[in-house]
Amino acid sequence: MRVLITGAGGFVGNHLIKELSKRGHEVLAGTLSGDITSKICQRLEFNITESYQVEAILRDLKPEGIIHLAAQSMVKHAWEYPLETVQVNTVGTIVLLNAVKKYLPLTKVVCVGSSEEYGLSAKTGKPLTEEDPCMPQNPYATSKFAAGLIALQMAKRDNLYVIHVRAFNHFGPGQQLGFVVSDFASQIARIEEGLTESVLKVGELSASRDFTDVRDVVRAYALLLENEVKPGIYNICSGVPRAAKEILDFLVKAAKTPIRIQVDETRYRLSDVPVFIGSSAKVHKAVAWQLERNFYVSLTETLDWWRQNI
Ligand code: GDD
Repeated sequence: MRVLITGAGGFVGNHLIKELSKRGHEVLAGTLSGDITSKICQRLEFNITESYQVEAILRDLKPEGIIHLAAQSMVKHAWEYPLETVQVNTVGTIVLLNAVKKYLPLTKVVCVGSSEEYGLSAKTGKPLTEEDPCMPQNPYATSKFAAGLIALQMAKRDNLYVIHVRAFNHFGPGQQLGFVVSDFASQIARIEEGLTESVLKVGELSASRDFTDVRDVVRAYALLLENEVKPGIYNICSGVPRAAKEILDFLVKAAKTPIRIQVDETRYRLSDVPVFIGSSAKVHKAVAWQLERNFYVSLTETLDWWRQNI
């Protein structure tokens, strides 16, 4: 299948390009300006919020499937830049679906949303299902919730084939700073190289999140695209709560040098829900997706990636 990835220049996009190519798909890798070094895809530069640019791509290249990743994906950044976040995440999704409706109404679109959409619903501490209500608690979460809601409304009215995935936390080699595993692993790599003093700065350590290796996550996106599944919402998650403290302890133990921990209050969030876990029963039933990667091996691989790329 000829698959267009929007936001292909980011961390997830680069892993998705590899996964789709491995599965025999032709990849059209859309990016605003992101770095796509891979030779196994066609690089396309466009802005997801500019309808004339998005329409031209769809009209001329006619992808048979679309995986929509293009987003401002940092919760913290969204508090500072809510307008940009809504423009890229919400308006960008509407622009894409308008173009799909106009030129490729039969093309399946997998839109990537976030577990953050559930917000306060996570407070029960129980694994969230797609049926749980959404009570987003920050501008990032609201932007993704609105994007998903409007996408599914447009799909219903215009008979489009839309899947909205709610991806829980993911990590792995190549993830940029600003996400907890990369923030910790990168600091350890710098300390090991003697580039900084032996102090690792951390935020809120007691909050638990549901982490999946990015390579398992992109496999789920591919399966949802390839298979005839019911349109609607699908969680992608491990179902296992992991406190930031557990990640920290594992990585610090793997460090080649002693490290002191220092709490940095600027890393605290305005509204950190204590536990965020999901149920992946629906995606498992739909496409038999399950985790293949071991959490601790993935943490080690991420640390090794930082050691090589510091
Ligand atoms: N980033 C970061 N850096 N987080 C830290 C740190 C730190 O130094 N120390 C503790 N944390 C805690 C955060 O407070 C949060 O509770 C948890 O670690 C995870 O933080 P992030 O990795 O930044 O992820 P997130 O949950 O805010 O958002 C990510 O997951 C969403 C899915 O639930 C992002 O990837 C979103 O794009 C994604 O939708």
